[in-house]
Amino acid sequence: MNHTAGRTAAVEQAAEVLRQGGLVAFPTETVYGLGADACNDAAVAKVFAAKGRPSFNPLIAHVTGLAAAEALGVFPVAARTLAQAFWPGPLTIVVTRRENCPVSRLASAGLPSLALRVPAHPLALALLQAFGGPVVAPSANASGRISPTTAAHVRASLGDAVDMILDGGPCQVGVESTVVSFLHGTPRLLRPGGLARETIEACLGMTLSEAGGGPLHAPGQLESHYAPRATLRLDAEAPAPGETYLGFGTHAHGPHTLSASGNLIEAAANLFRLLHDLDALGMNRIAVAPVPATGLGEAINDRLRRAAAERPS
Ligand code: TXA
Ligand code: MG
Repeated sequence: MNHTAGRTAAVEQAAEVLRQGGLVAFPTETVYGLGADACNDAAVAKVFAAKGRPSFNPLIAHVTGLAAAEALGVFPVAARTLAQAFWPGPLTIVVTRRENCPVSRLASAGLPSLALRVPAHPLALALLQAFGGPVVAPSANASGRISPTTAAHVRASLGDAVDMILDGGPCQVGVESTVVSFLHGTPRLLRPGGLARETIEACLGMTLSEAGGGPLHAPGQLESHYAPRATLRLDAEAPAPGETYLGFGTHAHGPHTLSASGNLIEAAANLFRLLHDLDALGMNRIAVAPVPATGLGEAINDRLRRAAAERPS
């Protein structure tokens, strides 16, 4: 088998791993990503578990081009201009999710927004083509470690947590993509990265707003946080009168359960969807079963505490 044929076979195999809900590390021009089927809640939860993330930072959905991106998110004119100028490339664009966006709510950390990017790497694009849908991918390192720019870094950091690694050699850019948000009128720079601010500003003919200091923009903080309308009571052994119960494991009362078997990966996969569902059903008071604070339970409890605490006006 020649080199090209070998790569094609590897890409097909990787796409199949994604279809089965597995994790594939793949090269992009910035850093290696830890990829999963963006529309599969359980696969997305596995990404957080593999990284050992203490909270659910929203993930970037990688797509083949602007048309695929616009099927998932609503692009203002300026966002489209940037995409046309710099995609494929080290630029991530945050926009509002479309109403029927099939991407897992866990990938958006329950937010109404979605981060989108078209990576400029032949293997990444080949994988996206072969898979045929959006692929979420944070940097393929354990939480708190530096981002991997070679397949060996990925192996060292994640080991067996990843089902397959596509080796495309060292990444050219080596720092993560620049993240620009279009959620609040003027575009804002959320994360400096592989595409210079000046280059973006020159293209738009305007200055990018600052992400701003303070807790609002630290990853996983207030802004990156889904707060349900309902009030939450945590560590509840059972529902009180008037409360809807969100069960876990042996604590299950009624139809809404994070994981009947007490599986934290399944619970993470279901968390934001269930909170949205209960909101949609008009539930005002939700009692949540105790969830152990180990593994993904740390992130689940972090998100539940934020959801329980935050009551804007
Ligand atoms: O270069 C990259 O961007 C790499 C490669 C693999 O594409 N990926 C990457 O992903 O760096 P990650 O998960 O390590 O960083 C994603 C960044 C985080 O700062 C996150 O807060 C932000 O994007 N982000 C994702 N979705 C967002 C959203 N809906 N709103 C605001 N920020 C978001
Ligand atoms: Mg990262």
